[in-house]
Amino acid sequence: MAERTRRQFLKEAVVLGGSALLVVGCSESLDVTQGVSVELLLPEALRAPGGHYEITDPSILAQFGERRTIFLYRSSESSVIAVSTRCTHQGCRVVFSSMSQEFSCPCHGARFQANGKVIRGSAKRDLFRYRATLLGDTVRIES
Ligand code: FES
Repeated sequence: MAERTRRQFLKEAVVLGGSALLVVGCSESLDVTQGVSVELLLPEALRAPGGHYEITDPSILAQFGERRTIFLYRSSESSVIAVSTRCTHQGCRVVFSSMSQEFSCPCHGARFQANGKVIRGSAKRDLFRYRATLLGDTVRIES
């Protein structure tokens, strides 16, 4: 019985080890600091739907543990979307196109919708999405 348990353990360890290697090799870790809340004056670019703005201030990004930038997109009169520009494949900085309203990754060609959802690999996961709330003349970003 003890031998069977040990065999089972080793079998599971091999499976877990394989999964871990897969994660390390193909996916950027999401290590955003949880529980952070920052409120910003609403940038001019976000005053109308379709507008976008990128948070590049290192002191704000450091609070979230963000290694790229935080992209804000005014998706409607009443809502803003906030996503990390760190590609979930291997961490390159994705770039937003106003023409296509999509992000593209210059490293291996992944594409994402403005809300961060994957359209095309190499990335398999959506961009990290922060909570964003419009509060009159300010916007609150939370992790
Ligand atoms: Fe590979 Fe973005 S880092 S597709």
